Amino acid sequence: MDTAKAMNILAAAHRLDPGIHIREFKLPLNADATAVPLIAVPTTAGTGSEVTRFTVVTDTVNNEKMLISGLAALPVAAIVDFELTMTVPPRVTADTGLDAFVHALEAFVSRRANAHSDLFARSGLSLIGHHLRRAYAEPGDRLAREAMMLGATHAGIACSIAPVALVHAMARPIGAHFHVSHGMSNAMMLPVVTEYSLPSALDKYAEASRIAGFARSEMDDETASRTLVEMLQRLNRELSVPSPRNYGISPTEWQRLLPLMADQALASSSPYNNPRIPARGDIVALYQASYG
Ligand SMILES: [Fe+2]
Repeated sequence: MDTAKAMNILAAAHRLDPGIHIREFKLPLNADATAVPLIAVPTTAGTGSEVTRFTVVTDTVNNEKMLISGLAALPVAAIVDFELTMTVPPRVTADTGLDAFVHALEAFVSRRANAHSDLFARSGLSLIGHHLRRAYAEPGDRLAREAMMLGATHAGIACSIAPVALVHAMARPIGAHFHVSHGMSNAMMLPVVTEYSLPSALDKYAEASRIAGFARSEMDDETASRTLVEMLQRLNRELSVPSPRNYGISPTEWQRLLPLMADQALASSSPYNNPRIPARGDIVALYQASYG
């Protein structure tokens, strides 16, 4: 879907300037012209790209995942059918499902959240929080697959209104440098970034934890939000998400690239949507804490 979006943007641009590169369109520029009407048909319950105004393209020259945004990246229609996900293997179900969960959570706690994004974020948190483990363990479970598909699309709408934050900002460089899948790199960063961000949006994290079925309704905000971090760690174990170390990334490579990764995370502008806005040193420390 993201490739089709990028091709559509480039095809329109090439009519005016045949030499233009997709790199020219990365944020903060807005891509607003398309060549053809685009209809998106997702085959995973994940990115929500069928309903977002974003496309992510890897710049293989600079090892950077570029965020390209604008109405040109928003499909004119989406056909969302969970039956297309019935044969998705467990690893892809886990990685894409975790990505969708992060969309719902980051939209919900985002500094740019509003009543509309909250509506879709709550739906995404509930549907994904209650069904991801079942879709992973029982791939043929139609109810779990349907809930995940709807949850991923709602999470996509939520994060198209209230864009993603620090988890995505820090995950993109891991994907670009070490070729970790998008959802898995998000999941690697999710527990440490959530723990770091809690104090700045305790009530929202606590509510997210209750909606996702992680915390019980009678828990106070402190306990419910702490439970969220514990459950995210547990979810990673249950869905076999490795730490960067266990993924096979060497400690010397990790250390060598940390400064560049921190710069790239900050440059994406997503950290400024986070409830707690990190200094560059915080980002380096969080990368170190996540290494495992
Ligand atoms: Fe994502």
